[in-house]
This record gives sequence, C-alpha cells and structure tokens, in this order.
Amino acid sequence: MERVAAIYREKILSPQQAAEKIRSGMTLAMSGFTLVGYPKAVPLALAESGHADDLTICVGASVGDELDGALTRAGLVRRRFAYQSNRDMRAAINAGTVGYSDMHISHFPRQIAEGVGPKIDFAIVECSAVTEDGLIPTASVGCMDAIVRAADKVIVEVNETLPLDLFGMHDIFEIGLPPRARPLNILSPADRIGTPFLPCPPEKIAAIVLTDRPDQPASFKPLTPVTARIGQNVVSFLKGEVAAGRLPEGLGPIQSGVGSVGNAVLQALNEGGFRGLEMYTEVMQDAALGLMDRGVFARVSASAVSLEEATRRRFYENLPDYHDRIVIRPQEISNHPEVIRRLGVIALNTPIELDIYGNVNSTHIMGSSVMNGIGGSGDFTRNARLSIFATESVAKGGAISCIVPMVSHVDHTEHDVHVIVTEQGVADLRWKTPRERAELLIENCAHPDYRPLLREYFEHAQKVSRGQHTPHDLTQALSWHQRFLETGSMKGCGE
Ligand code: COA
Repeated sequence: MERVAAIYREKILSPQQAAEKIRSGMTLAMSGFTLVGYPKAVPLALAESGHADDLTICVGASVGDELDGALTRAGLVRRRFAYQSNRDMRAAINAGTVGYSDMHISHFPRQIAEGVGPKIDFAIVECSAVTEDGLIPTASVGCMDAIVRAADKVIVEVNETLPLDLFGMHDIFEIGLPPRARPLNILSPADRIGTPFLPCPPEKIAAIVLTDRPDQPASFKPLTPVTARIGQNVVSFLKGEVAAGRLPEGLGPIQSGVGSVGNAVLQALNEGGFRGLEMYTEVMQDAALGLMDRGVFARVSASAVSLEEATRRRFYENLPDYHDRIVIRPQEISNHPEVIRRLGVIALNTPIELDIYGNVNSTHIMGSSVMNGIGGSGDFTRNARLSIFATESVAKGGAISCIVPMVSHVDHTEHDVHVIVTEQGVADLRWKTPRERAELLIENCAHPDYRPLLREYFEHAQKVSRGQHTPHDLTQALSWHQRFLETGSMKGCGE
C-alpha cells in the first residue's frame, strides 16, 4: 500500500503552508485520543507563526503538548472541548483564560453529527496513510470520523513513521442520526461491523502534510505496594462475584479507566489467575497489552492503544499478531451505552474523591479546579453491569482523605456507583441504604487516620439533620475541603 495515493500528491504542502489556511476565530477539530494520533506539525507551525488567534479547539480526548500545550502557550486558544490532560491547558482553564466544556466521550461526536456546537472550519487529522478509499487512522480513531464528516475542509498529517500494518485494525461505522440511527451489531468485543478505512471525499482534503514526529508516549507511575493492594482487592471482589454466581467465569468485558491506578488494577488480573478475558474499553493501556501477551486478555475493543515507548515499539513491530484480537473503533462506538449495557461491561474507573453516600467526583480538585475531565467514566459507569471505582484512600501524602462527608463536585451519583475499592478494602454499595453505605465506606475503605473523623461527622449529621434518609450537616459537609484550603491538610476536621 502506498502511503499517499497518487491522486493526492499535488495536495502535499509544508506544515507552514497548511497552517496559513487557518484564520482567527476559526473552529479546528483535531484527531487524537489519550495522547495517540493527534496532529503535531500543523499545530506547532500555527503556534510558531501566531497569525491566527481566538481559536476554538475540539478534540475527543487528551492530546500531546505539541497541540494543547503549544497553542495554549502561544495564547491562541479561546475555547477547548471536550477532554484534556495537558498541564498548561489545565492551568489556563483554571485561570479562566481558556473556556472549557467537558463532555461525555460518547456524546461529543454524536453532538457534532447533530450540528450542536460551532461549525467546524478545518478537521486536522493524523493518519498512517491516505488511500483512494479514504483515510487510514493511526493507533487511535477517537472522533476522527465525526469531525471529518462534519468539517468544511480537512488537513491530513500523514505520519511516515507509523507502520502500514495498522491497516486492518480499525472498524469505522457510521451510526447515522435518530430516529433512523443504525443498531450496532457488536455481539462480542472483537466483532467488526464497518470498514478498515474512513471514507473522505477527495475534494474535502485541503492539504496533506508529511510528518515524522512520534506521539508523546504515555507514562504511568510504577506499581507501589498500595496500588498493588488496590488491584488485589478488586480481584478478590470479582472472584467473590464469580463464586456467588453473579458473574460468569470469564467475567464479561472489562473497561479500564485512564491513569496509574487503572493500570495497576489491570496488572492484578494476571496474579488473579484469569485467562481468556475480553475488554470493551475506550483506551488500551500498557498493562492490557502485557496481559494480552500472557493470555489474560484474548480480545480487546478500544478507541486508542496508548502505550509507553518500549511497549509501543513492541506493539508496532508485531502488529500482524494483534490484527484479529484488537479492534480500534470510533469513540462513539467504543463508549456506546447500548453496547456497554448489552455486553454487560464491568467498569473500572478512578475517582478523585467520593463521599460517604457513594457520590463520586472524577474531575474537580477542591470543587473549583478541573483536573482532566469526565472522559468515558460516565458512559461506562452509568451503563455498566458492575461499576467499580478504585482509589487510594488518601492523597497528597495523607493530607487529603479521598473519602469525605460530601464531594465538592459530583460526576457520578450514588445511583450509578456500585462498588468502591481502596487499599483498605471493598464496599459493595448495591442494594444498600445511604446510611448502610456510609457505615460500609467508613469501616471498609477509609484510611484509619480519617475513620474516627468520618464516624464523628456521620454521628453528628444524624443528630442535627432534618431528614434521616441521607443525614448531613450542610454547614459542616464541605468544611473538610475548606480546612485543606486553609491549612494544607484535612486532618483535625471537626475538632
Ligand atoms: N484531592 C486532590 N488531589 C487528588 C485527589 C484528591 N482527592 N486524589 C488524587 N489527587 C491527585 C493525585 O495526588 C495526583 O496528583 P499528582 O499528579 O500531582 O501526583 C493526581 O490527582 C492523579 O492521581 P493518581 O493517584 O496519580 O491517579 P491516576 O493517575 O490514576 O488519575 C484521575 C486519577 C482521577 C485524575 C484520572 O483517572 C482521571 O482523570 N479520571 C477522569 C476520567 C476518567 O475516569 N476516564 C475513564 C474512562 S477511560
């Protein structure tokens, strides 16, 4: 297969020439998902020239510093949708200089297709090749299909370092719009229902830029005794569910969230003796590829394969081995509620904090600063057969309890959260009253340093609360956060 089909050769431009097409005030939608497959050369050229500002940037998930970081530092971004994890972008959002609207991963492409949100002037997408049939994505698809369909014009960065063997791993399917949206005939995670390329009318392509800059690799904090313990607790809980007949031996497809805790939980599945499992997830991280090589995972469906440098090299060198076992899908399909509910996915995500009644905050630090975004945690948690949140019981060296009287921001309500796991233990919140949930979370999951303080709050709340269904003292419920903001520690709350 040729990297760039002959019909497109005359459209090849330099990054600078392609960037010159962009004007101030435009909306640019970019490919990329969990630091994989995002355009780099055109954003860098744009940041360097600085000729177009007041830009609205739409990306389905997190992208590398060459995009979010460079454009933010150049002061060119006015608004950013829909998930980010870049340090400088986060700082600009929290300083109020960039507007940010954080959406569910599955809603974002759907709303683009429905015409909600600004008109997209340019889709700028990274690909491994451009054939006469269409675009061949990278190791991610994300919202590339939706933005290419919706954009006025498309600029394609063809990354010549990407293996052409990526062809065949993607499954592109256009759902269409309600009330005539098509059903997703995915009966098992590795089922394919679409094409291995993304159709794109040739006249839509405004420029092709040849690049050789690799994605910034993902990086995970190494496994610690605490994160290993969290993983072991998740595994013993799952084994208990199998023993009780509530889950099949093969568990059913697993979704695993972004970040170091999610990576650590997956690693524990190996020690748990599981084999031949499946994933229906949005991102396949390092641990999952390692588990596939060991036979723990047989098949994986994801919207991106996001790996550290050495693992990525191994993946690219052995791509044909993975062709039948890994499917890379559009994010609207990897996170589609209908498939998640029907396949009975087990969702494993990491919260920032949760409260004694089981409400979960995944996005905000101390109620007002955003960390990354909700990502796919809402898509999966709400629709999963079993939704599990796993976290360390404390953060910042113990100065913060991750279990608090009331969360400072809610992403997942008590109705969607089934099980909480920390290194201390497991709280199965299903079919429990709010007061029973509080007892379980304090006794099983809270850190011993904070257990007496949480107990004290809960007892006090029952004395002063008007209602006894979910007892609270509203003047004290957020005093733990206030105390941290004033003293740098939650310890001593209520004293
Ligand atoms: N208060 C303040 N800070 C907290 C905190 C709390 N209660 N809990 C964690 N943090 C901080 C950690 O200290 C750490 O900070 P650092 O980077 O300065 O060390 C940071 O948050 C990340 O925490 P970490 O323990 O390393 O966990 P992680 O890498 O597993 O990431 C989330 C955790 C919540 C940030 C991450 O999972 C996320 O963004 N989730 C939302 C999106 C999502 O769930 N997607 C899943 C679908 S794929």
